[in-house]
Amino acid sequence: MQAEDANAVPERNIVLIGFMGAGKTTVGKVLADKLSREFIDVDELIASERGMPVTEIFKTMGEAAFRRMEKEYIQDLCANKRSAVLSLGGGAFLQQEIRDLCMEQADVFLMDISWELWKSRLPLIRDSRPILQNKTDEEIKALYDARQAIYARHHCKVDAGSQTPEAAAQALIDWLQTRQRQLS
Ligand code: S3P
Repeated sequence: MQAEDANAVPERNIVLIGFMGAGKTTVGKVLADKLSREFIDVDELIASERGMPVTEIFKTMGEAAFRRMEKEYIQDLCANKRSAVLSLGGGAFLQQEIRDLCMEQADVFLMDISWELWKSRLPLIRDSRPILQNKTDEEIKALYDARQAIYARHHCKVDAGSQTPEAAAQALIDWLQTRQRQLS
């Protein structure tokens, strides 16, 4: 086997999941850069194509409409992209169809973050996330706990809190390369 084959990463979409503010977009951009792949933040794509930020979509059209849109965009990306890095909104995996589709067609990476660390980031993201509006700290903790069940579906998880985005991205590449070697 040639050296470059040993480091090969499969032609398959990579999907990043995890709680809002865990670092999906930051790690995703570094990962895409390292692999010379296209990076797509699904929320940003929806916002730019709909001409309004996700917060505004929630406000004017409601969460259910946003979730429908989110599903359509992810289905479309899974069908039309082959080797992109896709960063999903933190609630996308609430929908079983999205979970099943991504687990079947992509490599799903969970950006894991402890509650303690996430809580320290809360002031930075609180105002920009519609899901966090009008919630007490206790309700937000309950949301964090409930979300862990949906994030349990993944192929690999990386601690996105205690290491740099560069190290987290490298850990994911190492995982892909190790699996590729095992398969070949
Ligand atoms: C949401 C997370 C957000 C965005 C929307 C809903 C959620 O994405 O999709 O506000 O339900 O957790 P980020 O995880 O990128 O913040």
